[in-house]
Amino acid sequence: MDGAVQTVNCDDGTTMQVRRLSDVMGAEVTGVDLSKPLTPALKNAIMAAFLEHHLLAFRGQDLSPEAQHAFTKHFGDIEGHVARLPDGEKLPLVHVVNNLGPDGKPTAQPHSTGNYFWHTDKSYHDVPSLATLLHALELPPKGGDTLFCNTYRAYESLSDARKTQLANLRAVHSWEASRRNTGNQPASEQQKRERPPVSHPVVRTHPDTGRKLLYIGIHTSHIEGMPEADGKALLDELLEHAAQDAHVYRHEWHEGDLCMWDNRCLLHRADDNYDMGQHRRVLHRTVVRGTVPY
Ligand SMILES: [Fe+2]
Repeated sequence: MDGAVQTVNCDDGTTMQVRRLSDVMGAEVTGVDLSKPLTPALKNAIMAAFLEHHLLAFRGQDLSPEAQHAFTKHFGDIEGHVARLPDGEKLPLVHVVNNLGPDGKPTAQPHSTGNYFWHTDKSYHDVPSLATLLHALELPPKGGDTLFCNTYRAYESLSDARKTQLANLRAVHSWEASRRNTGNQPASEQQKRERPPVSHPVVRTHPDTGRKLLYIGIHTSHIEGMPEADGKALLDELLEHAAQDAHVYRHEWHEGDLCMWDNRCLLHRADDNYDMGQHRRVLHRTVVRGTVPY
């Protein structure tokens, strides 16, 4: 359900309007120009809204890669990516997400399809991501949505017995498992060396809110100390529980949106609900490094 507009007055005299986008998560933010220098007061107001709504959609932004980089830096270090471009080169810190082939034309066979599965960005890192920022530059006439799952709710809706069972379990996450789980080209030996498997608590405590959540997704392979098949089955079951409609918000992009979401308490996946071979979908992405999960 959409909410009423809340006007947030910052200490520096600026105001921003925040409107809830759904009952599950998300708020639209208007009245701010993110290409301008960010004052501490506005940053604090943004962080407060971010923690309350988990996903902020700043409407009508027009950010160069440099401006997106500068805005992102306010929230922490910017992460590189283990993935490579089709020519083998590393991705720049502000990198392009698109459905274009080597000829620059839209294709229904993208280079990688991992983002069509539920995941939280870079959970295969020792220190996974805090937030991802995606800036929509070109969109299909309709569709090309992104789905987000609220993993606070996924945890809170479990039975007490299940919560007790999960309390001390750790899931193993890896780039290699992610590639395998999504049917992508297998991880190279170099990528396996760069990103060896890591483990994180299945029930994570959000470092800023203190709330518990399920920290799972397609980058996981198994659970430490459990037969691999049993652990995989449990993770699959938890993911199915998490991704039920009651926990999911569908973001229908507007051109100029800068969406910033909390990877600590959300899963996300792209939806291919548009004619990918026909229409361009181009976004700029930055990822903020977070903290070690506990
Ligand atoms: Fe992602």
